[in-house]
Amino acid sequence: MPPSSTKQRIEGLQKEIEEHDYRYYVLDKPIISDEKYDKLFKELQQLEESNPQWASPHSPTQKVGGKPLDKFKKVKHSRPMLSLQNVYTSEEFTQVFSRWRDTLGASFAVVGEPKFDGLAVELVYENGFLAVASTRGDGETGEDVTENVKTIKSVPLRLRENFPKLLEVRGEIILMKEDFEALNKQRAKSGEPLFANPRNAAAGSIRQLDPKIAAQRKLDLFCHGIGSMTGVTATSHWELLKLFNVWGLRTHTLYQSLTSLSAIESFYKKVESQRDSLPYEIDGIVLKINSFKDQEELGFVARSPRWAIAYKFKAQEGITELHDVVFQVGRTGVITPVAVLKPVWVGGVEVKRAGLHNEDQVRELGLKIGDTVVVKRAGDVIPDVVSVIEDKRTGKEKKIVFPKHCPACHSHIVRNEGEAAHRCTNMACPARLAEGLKHFCSKRAMNIEGLGDKWIDLLQENKLITHFSSLYDLDKETVMTLERQGDKSAQKLIDAIARSKETTLDRFLFALGIPLVGERTAELLATHFGSLSAFMKASDEELTHVEEVGPTVSLRIRQFLSEPKNRDEIDRLIKKGVQPHWESHNQTGLGLLAGKTFVITGTLPSLSRDEAALLIRQNGGKVTNSVSKQTDFLVVGDDAGSKLQKAQALGVAQLDEAGLKKLISG
Ligand code: IVH
Repeated sequence: MPPSSTKQRIEGLQKEIEEHDYRYYVLDKPIISDEKYDKLFKELQQLEESNPQWASPHSPTQKVGGKPLDKFKKVKHSRPMLSLQNVYTSEEFTQVFSRWRDTLGASFAVVGEPKFDGLAVELVYENGFLAVASTRGDGETGEDVTENVKTIKSVPLRLRENFPKLLEVRGEIILMKEDFEALNKQRAKSGEPLFANPRNAAAGSIRQLDPKIAAQRKLDLFCHGIGSMTGVTATSHWELLKLFNVWGLRTHTLYQSLTSLSAIESFYKKVESQRDSLPYEIDGIVLKINSFKDQEELGFVARSPRWAIAYKFKAQEGITELHDVVFQVGRTGVITPVAVLKPVWVGGVEVKRAGLHNEDQVRELGLKIGDTVVVKRAGDVIPDVVSVIEDKRTGKEKKIVFPKHCPACHSHIVRNEGEAAHRCTNMACPARLAEGLKHFCSKRAMNIEGLGDKWIDLLQENKLITHFSSLYDLDKETVMTLERQGDKSAQKLIDAIARSKETTLDRFLFALGIPLVGERTAELLATHFGSLSAFMKASDEELTHVEEVGPTVSLRIRQFLSEPKNRDEIDRLIKKGVQPHWESHNQTGLGLLAGKTFVITGTLPSLSRDEAALLIRQNGGKVTNSVSKQTDFLVVGDDAGSKLQKAQALGVAQLDEAGLKKLISG
């Protein structure tokens, strides 16, 4: 491309991507797929990289986060960022409304909008370009968080059209509930402390010195007001919100123009009823007098405007006592501390229990039994204990003792590196049994036809099953005693259970539900070990030699195998007739390699040894470890050692990878 057209292409792409960002974030109406967008973005990134003279600090590619800072600079707001006064009841709000009417007369409009539970910021756009972004701070002076704000996808680095020469736009930085949960999940996994709520997570993210971290946090900005503005005039708040969109700034969509007290009360109720289903947290509505002239007339009191008010929803927090902490074993063996509380009403719901997530969180809260605690409800999920009121301590509070063994089955508990959770290692732990059994019976595991979730629940409810192996003790008569089970369907089930005894090693290993062992790993383990007994005897070292089995997976397998309850259960399954086989797997006599024995040595050009072995077995051949007179073929790769010599001495035929493939393709 000639230089001038490269420059044009870069500018064209910048504009095009900005347009798509606008359509996606502001209008909520994207017109291209994510793939197409990513392609444009990559092209721009590449062009800018190879032509740095045309890369602009305002390009949409600059949203990935720049260099880390040492500390934040201070920024003085040109006009103070005020706060809102709150009302909590209809009576209180009616008084505010009457005052408005007293000053403004009967006809005035109010804009109702959600009150976001986020972090207030101010963005300064000079000649349409984002110059500075700062936190509210004490209202007069905040911190310069420009680099982090630039990474927010919905924040344009330059405004679109007809924008003011100077614009100080104010809004709320938030983290969507879904992204908050994903972030905490990921932090729990890597053992980092959890954020108590989306607000704290948003605040923590925007105050990151490393903009690359902020860039990963999926923050959002909703604009809801201004500081100074020059070059454009607006006469009302409503008009301003519309102009924000024209300039490319995102606003919420829930706002409404309201002209009577009853309309405001209905708006309050409507938004409150939507609260739990909104993708972000709100804690009330904000009501603002629409006309700027009217706003001026009402003026300010202390640090708050008289023309706006926050009408908050009923408290979702309550104060109560912590009676006890119990430990629950979840479906996957994760052991979670749960707070048992003196019952308290929070936002119209009686709360008796609250989640404590994990040991780290309990320590971080500094929680003790007998403490007075603050509990918080958000949506329909189990409430959280958010803080301890230390002033209420009497000295009689007791330490919380974490169990050393699984509370359900007394097996060992492990806490793996990088994980905040403690887990029970017993696959047949009663607390995990139903879930484990569903997996054990499933199509891709033991494939017990007809034994679905309903049956498993029924069998467990009737205490007919205590282990996976109990399945093989069931008889038709016992099954028939269960609700509405006829002779025929009972027999069918018993037959299916019996059929499952003949299975393959990979299915069996997958069925056991060993943590991190999915279908593919199970197959690689089966291929590598060839038999259940060899797998059971596997040393640490040998496990790490299995393809794709890294230290984490091998650790989980070892933990699994070192739990005596798991070994006993495997023994029981075998005693009851379960026969996982592998060597004979696929030896239908029909494969092209049927009856042939192979040994593989050295490094093959494209297949790993395990893959080559799988290929041979899939075609009916047998793979062994050492060369003997029974060996039909030695598959040889680079750096072959003693096996090659032995094969040569015994006159065993040799193949390279291409030869093997040719043999298979017939
Ligand atoms: S307007 C002077 N609108 O609430 C009025 N604020 O206590 C300035 N907030 O610091 C604020 N949602 O962070 C306004 N729709 C909304 C809001 C909102 C949340 C926050 C804002 C402000 C605090 C005021």
